[in-house]
Amino acid sequence: MFDFIPLSVPSIQGNEWKYVKECLDKEWVSSAGSYVDEFERRIADFTGVRYAIACVNGTAALHVALKLAGVRSGDAVIVPTLTFIAPVNAIRYLNADPVFMDSDDFYNIDIEKTLEFIRSQTVYKNGATFHTTTGKKVSAIVPVHVFGNAVDLDSLLDVCKERNIVVVEDATESMGTIYKMGRVAGKHAGTIGKLGCLSFNGNKIITTGGGGMILTDDTDYAEKAKYITTQAKNDNIRYVHNEIGYNFRLTNVQAAIGVAQLENLNRYLGIKKKNYLQYKQGIDRIPGLHLADTPDYAENNLWMYALQINKAVYGIDREQLMRLFDQQEIQTRPVWHLNHRQKPYRDCYGYQIKKAAFLHETTLNIPCSTGLKSEEIERIISCLEKR
Ligand SMILES: Cc1ncc(COP(=O)(O)O)c(C=O)c1O
Repeated sequence: MFDFIPLSVPSIQGNEWKYVKECLDKEWVSSAGSYVDEFERRIADFTGVRYAIACVNGTAALHVALKLAGVRSGDAVIVPTLTFIAPVNAIRYLNADPVFMDSDDFYNIDIEKTLEFIRSQTVYKNGATFHTTTGKKVSAIVPVHVFGNAVDLDSLLDVCKERNIVVVEDATESMGTIYKMGRVAGKHAGTIGKLGCLSFNGNKIITTGGGGMILTDDTDYAEKAKYITTQAKNDNIRYVHNEIGYNFRLTNVQAAIGVAQLENLNRYLGIKKKNYLQYKQGIDRIPGLHLADTPDYAENNLWMYALQINKAVYGIDREQLMRLFDQQEIQTRPVWHLNHRQKPYRDCYGYQIKKAAFLHETTLNIPCSTGLKSEEIERIISCLEKR
């Protein structure tokens, strides 16, 4: 029998126990504790942003960020079809509609097609952009940094500014990804748009069990984010609420885990890179297989590894390979079902989607935990060689 190798599990080996114990000893377990503020401060310092506002999870962060960005009922929001469904759902929570975009070579939103869509399929009037087919106002775009790969944002920013389309980055998978080139060089993914969102779900590069963060340089957005994620209290002694708020703030116990995890983030980034290189060396020499490359304009966090399968050369397809790994107790996952094909979103507009479908059919995500051992990677590679 083999030891099971999971796809992506956290590594809890730092000060997590110590900081959580401190919360429990002091009986500060809910969202009012000092670790929540400290986690926000440390995330802001790490990413170089002015404000970080903690949320219960990345989906809630996206929901609030889109609301702050001005997305209203009946609007349209541009989003890639190839992504975990959370940003698409967040758009729908606001009764807006997604406009689905295709993917580029790095699984990210295809910026060229997006610009082409904005230029050819929308009109600009009275300070806003309208989709000509549906008549809907395109109020925002959600570039998702898929698998930690930085989206080519540099090319998008000017057009979005000209067209008054607010950029809300989904950086839930890209904590630690930093741009190296262009105007955004030196900036972290999630800190370039007006608002950015992180996730600390259990499978992410650092975790709080469940958690998220809104990043912004804008004081008004930051104040409003804190206000609506804490039930929109205008007077927190007399319980006066002038708006509809949400109970979306992270708890102290979760934030304590986050502070401890953050202390190890640079080490995790190093491990992700080392493991990626070991995989790459082994995989790229197998005919018909390729470990997906990452864009050279950023130092990517290499959160998730994407194995690309050319069935004509390799002999078996993604589904067959997944079953084979399953028999070997190695957990793998196909890329998410494309969102323009998901039941709730089938009627929504999609713009010339081709590559996303190809990537979806030919990609398998393979184990990427920071606790992955070199021998385990060798075992995975030898499975691929023998199949
Ligand atoms: C691309 C993407 N967006 C949003 C989310 C939502 O984050 P959470 O699970 O913290 O709600 C996730 C992951 O879970 C994700 O992968």
